[in-house]
Amino acid sequence: MANVVVVGAQWGDEGKGKIVDWLSERADVIARFQGGHNAGHTLVIDGTVYKLHALPSGVVRAGKLSVIGNGVVLDPWHLLKEIETLRAQGVEITPETLMVAENTPLILPFHGELDRARENHNSVAKIGTTGRGIGPCYEDKVGRRVIRVADLADDATLELRLDRALVHHDALRRGLGLDPIDRDGVLQQLREIAPKLLPYAKPVWKVLNEKRKAGKRILFEGAQGALLDIDFGTYPYVTSSNVIAGQAATGVGMGPGAIDFVLGIVKAYTTRVGEGPFPTELLDADGERLGTRGHEFGTTTGRKRRCGWFDACLLRQTCATSGVNGIALTKLDVLDGFDVLKICVGYDLDGERLDYLPTAADQQARCTPIYEEIEGWSQSTEGARSWADLPAQAIKYVRRIEELIDCPVALVSTSPEREDTILVTDPFAD
Ligand code: IMP
Repeated sequence: MANVVVVGAQWGDEGKGKIVDWLSERADVIARFQGGHNAGHTLVIDGTVYKLHALPSGVVRAGKLSVIGNGVVLDPWHLLKEIETLRAQGVEITPETLMVAENTPLILPFHGELDRARENHNSVAKIGTTGRGIGPCYEDKVGRRVIRVADLADDATLELRLDRALVHHDALRRGLGLDPIDRDGVLQQLREIAPKLLPYAKPVWKVLNEKRKAGKRILFEGAQGALLDIDFGTYPYVTSSNVIAGQAATGVGMGPGAIDFVLGIVKAYTTRVGEGPFPTELLDADGERLGTRGHEFGTTTGRKRRCGWFDACLLRQTCATSGVNGIALTKLDVLDGFDVLKICVGYDLDGERLDYLPTAADQQARCTPIYEEIEGWSQSTEGARSWADLPAQAIKYVRRIEELIDCPVALVSTSPEREDTILVTDPFAD
């Protein structure tokens, strides 16, 4: 049986929600393996809109096991609120249908405060984060001073862990002009939340390895996108986790052999939110048009997304670093009606042609995209369900992308509706 990893192959917001939902119907287990509630997945099922940030997309489907893995950073107050909102929409969530890894780090209120204080402190340090405390929590995890889910079970451990974190945080806060942390207040909040969160806490690594042995299908649900990866993204304008597919194994406690198929989600053009390099960004009417037609506003923060042409050069890179076996191309219909489309096929760096984006920031800044132009199409592709429904030029665009990124298209999505999909390869096929 195949286990599938879904990863964003650009800067996030590629339209993972619909694809993950479509795949989750055929999976037994849906697991988040990185990121936190900085993610935003919108699902539309039978006319009902579900907005998910921390929960795996599988929760809205009955009979599935949803898992939050150790690679995630978890705000327990946010999680419980999200569970309540979904319950009010009629979704059943119980410790039988949702598991949280015992070794998952907790995002505490002071992580969010630090995130926002740093973002507002001065423009040099600004990353354009979601302000949800993701980075500070991962820092504490690596700094060995984070509180993890299992720590909530024992009051003495909890106090010890909190004091360890406060030594660091209070010093930092003094430097940023913030008040010291209200130790007893945080402790009280944690004591109150503990009995609500602990029923979901499980040795997820064990459960998932057993599920795999029993032949169950696991869908690993990535958040953000490979260009926001802490190692391979446009550092420092990245998120604080590994986003690429290899993290799926580490982020739940399985071996790399557990991954059978990597599906990269790819938007037919490019967007990004927050600061940082974006070689094919369009600051003109074409960019505005992509943003308007594509409804390019962040699900989590509502920020306007920056828009630009498709960058095949960056895609080649992310398909390689995630070992993508096939891509799901989304939002093709947003390109309907352009006379000419441009695809970035390489970069010019001081007169030299590069087929990848260099790591050094000054070189990235000097890279100018080399474009290939391709004729557009005037017909609508919205709602297409087979190749025959697509104009010839749209098929040419898709085929050219496949060639340039050296990776086949597994499916094409032509509207937010789940049925509006052209299926080429089923990632779950045996
Ligand atoms: P953080 O993850 O909140 O620390 O933000 C770091 C960078 O990642 C910022 O540029 C955010 O805009 C970006 N980011 C985080 N989560 C998402 C997402 O789900 N979609 C798109 N961008 C994101």
